[in-house]
Amino acid sequence: MSTQTHLLRTLICDSRWHLFRPQVKGPGHHRRVWLQLYAAWPAQPSFGQYTPSAHPLKHYAEIAQAAVEVEQIEPKDPAMVETIKSMNERGIKTLYGRWLIDGAPRVLLFDTGTGYYKLDEWKADLWATAGIPSPVDDHETNEAIVFGYLIAWFLGEARELPGACKANPADQLLKERAVVAQFHEWLAGVALPLCKKRRIDVTTIFTTHATLLGRYLCAGSVDFYNNLQYFDVDAEAGKRGIYHRYCIERGAAHAADVFTTVSHITAYESEHLLKRKPDGVLPNGLNVKKFSATHEFQNLHQVHKDRISDFIRGHFYGHNDFDLDKTLYFFTAGRYEYRNKGVDMFIESLARLNHRMKSSGSDMTVVAFIIMPAQTTSLTVEALKGQAVIKSLHDTVKSIEESVGKRIFERSLKWHEGQDLPEDKELVTPQDKIMLRRRLYAMKRNNLPPIVTHNMMNDGDDPILNQIRRCQLFNHPSDRVKVIFHPEFLNSANPVLPMDYDDFVRGTHLGVFSSYYEPWGYTPAECTVMGVPSITTNLSGFGCYMEELIENAQDYGIYIVDRRMKGVDESVNQLADYMFDFTKKSKRQRINQRNRTERLSDLLDWKRMGMEYVKARQLALRRGELRSCISRIGRVVFPTTGPKPSLTQPVTPAYPDSFEGDEEPGFFDGTEMKITRPLSAPGSPRERSGMMTPGDFASLQEGREGLSTEDYIAWKLPEEEDPEE
Ligand code: UDP
Ligand code: G6P
Repeated sequence: MSTQTHLLRTLICDSRWHLFRPQVKGPGHHRRVWLQLYAAWPAQPSFGQYTPSAHPLKHYAEIAQAAVEVEQIEPKDPAMVETIKSMNERGIKTLYGRWLIDGAPRVLLFDTGTGYYKLDEWKADLWATAGIPSPVDDHETNEAIVFGYLIAWFLGEARELPGACKANPADQLLKERAVVAQFHEWLAGVALPLCKKRRIDVTTIFTTHATLLGRYLCAGSVDFYNNLQYFDVDAEAGKRGIYHRYCIERGAAHAADVFTTVSHITAYESEHLLKRKPDGVLPNGLNVKKFSATHEFQNLHQVHKDRISDFIRGHFYGHNDFDLDKTLYFFTAGRYEYRNKGVDMFIESLARLNHRMKSSGSDMTVVAFIIMPAQTTSLTVEALKGQAVIKSLHDTVKSIEESVGKRIFERSLKWHEGQDLPEDKELVTPQDKIMLRRRLYAMKRNNLPPIVTHNMMNDGDDPILNQIRRCQLFNHPSDRVKVIFHPEFLNSANPVLPMDYDDFVRGTHLGVFSSYYEPWGYTPAECTVMGVPSITTNLSGFGCYMEELIENAQDYGIYIVDRRMKGVDESVNQLADYMFDFTKKSKRQRINQRNRTERLSDLLDWKRMGMEYVKARQLALRRGELRSCISRIGRVVFPTTGPKPSLTQPVTPAYPDSFEGDEEPGFFDGTEMKITRPLSAPGSPRERSGMMTPGDFASLQEGREGLSTEDYIAWKLPEEEDPEE
């Protein structure tokens, strides 16, 4: 295998991930196969550095990791065997096996480094075929091009192999059956125009999880959402040096049979920036079973809260003048995208919260954590010392406790009637007192407890630290809001805060994600399934989805800040209000709210969200069918520009029985999903009869030309609103 600089790009076949299985029908029916194509989401230098996260789409094996993450097996499908063999003979290294994650999907990894000998040829072809330019020095784009060409090579050969399949047709998955290939993100998008141009016999879906241009524009200081339809997209991409990447993304969106995004807000953005209306929304789900702790989750909260409290004792040594029983842990976490993730708003709101708590004489304390990886050199001596002095104190107290116990026991053994009980002075010896005094002196501190746990590379220029400085949140004893910036993702091997992220979340009271740009937002969704209330915004996919689904969402611990219709100052105040109201809740109210939050888990389960993937595949199969009919009668296949052929035209499909009424196995077959009204709160999720998925709002529908602007959930431009309503 080649060097670390090349990622093994992944082709996931027969994906049982997300619980989807190829449908097996009786004789005469075509079984379906789908392929999911993913690419890594590597560093975006302009957005701080990247740390691989638990996000499934980012979970791609680097070469060193492949060996531990993938168990190599021999492929059985003859077309797969032949194609891999033929590619290997021409110098392309591959690894076929089972990816050792839930569902153990079969994966085919391509070592992109071995395809570079053809890079120049492929770049020239990409320009000739799709008019997509590519500069020499953009490594990420080169990777995307090599990956795209390898995928097109693989699919083309696997589908066309002449007579390779003498085996039982039932085993000939790739050759004999309909293939749906789903591509995620622009990094996997190069293959899409190639599949189309070469008329490879697959039907395709392109799912974008954000738009490149949207991410870049929002990170700057533009009024993004009010100007979406006015951006000169080519010029904006050019100014940011991403024109070629933008072309790949846009080309992929237009070449795919079915184009989807992860939320309505991103669908709207894609329509304007990529110039194609998505056909539907495939929101991100979670494997709720993995997080599910049923009745245990409240206990887990207590257990992990105690671990966070241990850290707090160390971090605030010498200043532990607040009652940990009356302390609430708030946090925000994610990649370091200062403006996109709304950290600017979070810190400003914390300052206002601090002011309100002080002036109202609140006896509560809020410790707000910011978990965002930045460039650091090491943990600070102060952070390490804090944990060390508290540990020494703890050890000393424990040893005194043991020796006092021993002395009481000894004295009690010798006790005779008429004698006094031992005096305290006799129990705690002068040596014990000296030891204890030494520990107390070690806790003396002339400075305030630090904000940041690590030595920052760019302390003076760091936007988070500068905002904290501007707001003067310095962890002063009089502050009711303390701030801790942990510029590294959490893990249990960390000597200062030794906790995995999930455990940490469980131990907190409130997640705050005041994002400006957030196509979906896993962090608040993870909070929900772990029973932790969260604050999001109506500019995040998750926020819009929950807002649409639940009435009185606040009762369920889902707070949504309006960043769309309100001015910045108003939004900051709304966020501060939410947090302030939260500090006024009693313990009992917090416990009840957590119970209600956790009950929302099913709304976020892949079992529900996955329905949209099923619909997308069905639509892709139908469109693929239509396309092959049109091409059989010699008509042009979907043009890249101009209107698409109507899908409502009567077409005689090649396999009339295959797809007609041929539903994927229903996840909720026979059940009517209704979200029950909680007994403990007045509000309830919207009562709807029947199963509810994001698609029920307006999404992947047969015969439609895609979403229309009116379809976007809870998302309209101000001027588009009907004044009558
Ligand atoms: N995360 C993590 N460790 C941390 C903090 C965050 O693994 O210390 C993960 C978190 O579980 C979530 C992901 O980072 O799955 C962030 O995903 P999100 O969708 O919120 O943001 P994105 O990175 O997609 O913009
Ligand atoms: C859980 C535990 C309770 C604990 C409570 C603390 O519900 O089961 O034993 O009292 O958490 O809640 P709090 O919001 O104060 O952290």
